[in-house]
This record gives sequence, structure tokens and C-alpha cells, in this order.
Amino acid sequence: MPDGNLTHLSPVLSIVVPTFKEALNVKLHYASLSKALAGVDWEVVYVDDDSPDGTSDVLRDMSQQHSNLRLIHRIGRKGLASAVIEGILSTAAPYVAVMDCDLQHDEKLLPLMLKELQSKQYDVVVGSRFVDGGSTGDWDEKRLRMSKLATRLSRMVVTAELSDPMSGYFMLTRAAFAGAVKHLSGQGFKILLDIFASSPKPLRFKELPFTFGLRQHGESKVDTTVLIEYAYMLIDKYFHGWLPPRLVLFSLVGAFGAVVHFAVLSVLYLLVGSGFSLSQSIATAVAMTSNYAYNNEFTFRDRRLTGWRWLAGLLSFYAISAVGVFGNVGVANYLFGHSNAWWLSALAGIAIGTIWNFSLSSSITWRKR
Ligand code: GDD
Ligand code: MN
Repeated sequence: MPDGNLTHLSPVLSIVVPTFKEALNVKLHYASLSKALAGVDWEVVYVDDDSPDGTSDVLRDMSQQHSNLRLIHRIGRKGLASAVIEGILSTAAPYVAVMDCDLQHDEKLLPLMLKELQSKQYDVVVGSRFVDGGSTGDWDEKRLRMSKLATRLSRMVVTAELSDPMSGYFMLTRAAFAGAVKHLSGQGFKILLDIFASSPKPLRFKELPFTFGLRQHGESKVDTTVLIEYAYMLIDKYFHGWLPPRLVLFSLVGAFGAVVHFAVLSVLYLLVGSGFSLSQSIATAVAMTSNYAYNNEFTFRDRRLTGWRWLAGLLSFYAISAVGVFGNVGVANYLFGHSNAWWLSALAGIAIGTIWNFSLSSSITWRKR
């Protein structure tokens, strides 16, 4: 026992809750935890990214009333996954749960999850919408399809047969987290998947069904950026950090650009009957423009250019790509001239051109501002 009136030992269970614009939900959320966890030694850590609706202020007030409520107020940093990581690192509890603040995750599952972990048979217990007895509640067709696709893609990086690797509701042991934490990508929303993909040894897991509830207040933060961050994480884990996710996306856009090029070229040259040189020039311009637009939308979404900057960016991208073509053809010609196979020479040229375009456009067109 501690001495004096320091009676506060580290709790057994810590619940880490990322919050962004949840001012209207936090009180309801804390109350629901108090009710569900009566008899358990627990604490909750809310990690708020300086929400403009004053969520942090509400939480700070609440933490004066409740000794088992803590707030981490982050400024200048953002992101669900990184918030969760910081929250977990801030506690010493042997068991940690992660859940949403909007009452969509059934808190009544928490004591059950804890019991499963305390049995020492599992490292992670996951709240799943896709095992018998679970459900996605009122999700629409589109969100459901998106979730299914994301789950299928997750098999690229995780072999564990999780029915719901996208779940944002789970509990794990400190040891399981400690094993993975230094390898986490920490990007985006999919922290559970990240943990599974980053753990040095396979995690023993159990899934418990639950029905995804209705959001009480505010709205979901899942958007295009979240999807792209997911793609980043998959690429990062798939290549074990050896290939920069941005370069992979850039190359995919480039490959798509080649398809665009051939489509335009065939229409102009074969159907319309324009001369080859004119058709080829137009096809090149269209492909470059579409590459630029897609890279702006996806590859460099976090530095996306709009308004007149979009136009300036396009011009710099044209200039960079034009030089890239010289590099590409130069290298390919050189290799071909030194009796390498034609396709190998071409591939090397394409690789050099792509790396050139990527390096320059990421430091000029989409430079960090
Ligand atoms: N600190 C912080 N920073 N918190 C955030 C951020 C952020 O940038 N973005 C979202 N949050 C918080 C929200 O306030 C909420 O408490 C929780 O993270 C989940 O965000 P929602 O916007 O409610 O996501 P959702 O309900 O659409 O998606 C949930 O369900 C998915 C399917 O299970 C999340 O739990 C996803 O992780 C999960 O994949
Ligand atoms: Mn939610």
C-alpha cells in the first residue's frame, strides 16, 4: 500500500478515447463508462486535438470532478491513431481499451473484454460487427461496402483471421502494445490493424460481437483523407517500410496516366485520323494533366493545391515532367546502345523518369509550406 494519503495506485484498466469535436458527447460518454464499469478499477484518458468546439475545456472541467478522468490536450498535432498511441503511452495500466467518444461502441462489453484478457488466454479482444450477434447498425450500403473492401485489402498486411480489422473498439494487454509500439505506422484511423501488422509475434485474439450504435452528437470524421491514410499504411506495412508510400501512389498514378495516354492516342490517331505527331502531343498533354490532377488529389492530398496555386503547380509539373522525359529517353537509349534488352532499357528509363518527376515535384510543385 502506498503511504500517507497517496491512495491512488495505477488502475487495472485504462480506457483511451480520441476526441475531435465531441463537446456534446463527453459527459454522456463518461457517465456511460461509470455505469458499465462499477466494481472495476479503471480510468479514462481523453486525447483531444484542440477541437474548435471546446471539447478540451469541457474535459478539463470534468477532470476536476473525477479523479479517474484525465485529458491530454494536443496542439499542432492531429490524427486518431497517433492520439491513441500517445494516450496508451501515458498510462501504466496493464490493460488498455480504445473506443470512440460518440457512444457508438457498446460500453457494456468492457467488463467482458477485461475478463477475457485476465484469463491470460488472449492478447487482444476486439469488438466486432461482423461475428454472429454483431451488426453495423444503421450504416448505409456505401459505408458498408467501403468497410468490406478495406477489410479485404487488409489481408495484404495481416494474416490474422480478424472478421473486423477496421474496428475502432478493442482492449489489449500492455505487453502486446509494447511489442508493437515502435513499429507502428501511426497514420490515419486504423490503429487496430496497425498493431496487428506491427507486432513482432502473432497476437492471440478473441472477437466479441456488438452492434454499432447511433452517433449521439456531431458527425463522423471518416472522409477521403482517412481512406488515403489507410492506403499509406497498407503500402508502408506491405513493403515493410522500404518503399515510400507516396512514391508507390505516384507510380500508380503514372501507370494510370499511361492508360489515359493510349486511350487518347487511339481515339485521335485511329478514329479521328489526326496525324501521329499531333495525336501523340495531345495525348501527352492530357496524360500529364490527369497525372497532375490525381497526384494533387491523392498522392499529395495533405499538400493539396487549390485556386491559382493549382494552375502554378500544373505549370511546374509540366516543366519537371518535360525534363523527366529527356532523362527517361537518355537512360533508355544509353542502355539499349550497350546491348541491353529493349524492354529492360525501357523499364530503366521509366524508373529514372519516375524518380526524377517524383523527387522534383515533391520538393517544388508540392513542397511543404
Ligand atoms: N484526437 C483525435 N484526433 N480524435 C479523433 C480524430 C483526430 O484527428 N479524428 C477522429 N477522432 C475521434 C472522434 O472524435 C471519435 O471519438 C473517434 O475518434 C472515431 O471517429 P468517428 O468520426 O466517430 O469515426 P467513425 O465512427 O466514423 O468510425 C469508427 O468506426 C470505424 C469502424 O469501426 C472509428 O472507430 C474507426 O476507427 C472505425 O474504423
Ligand atoms: Mn464514431
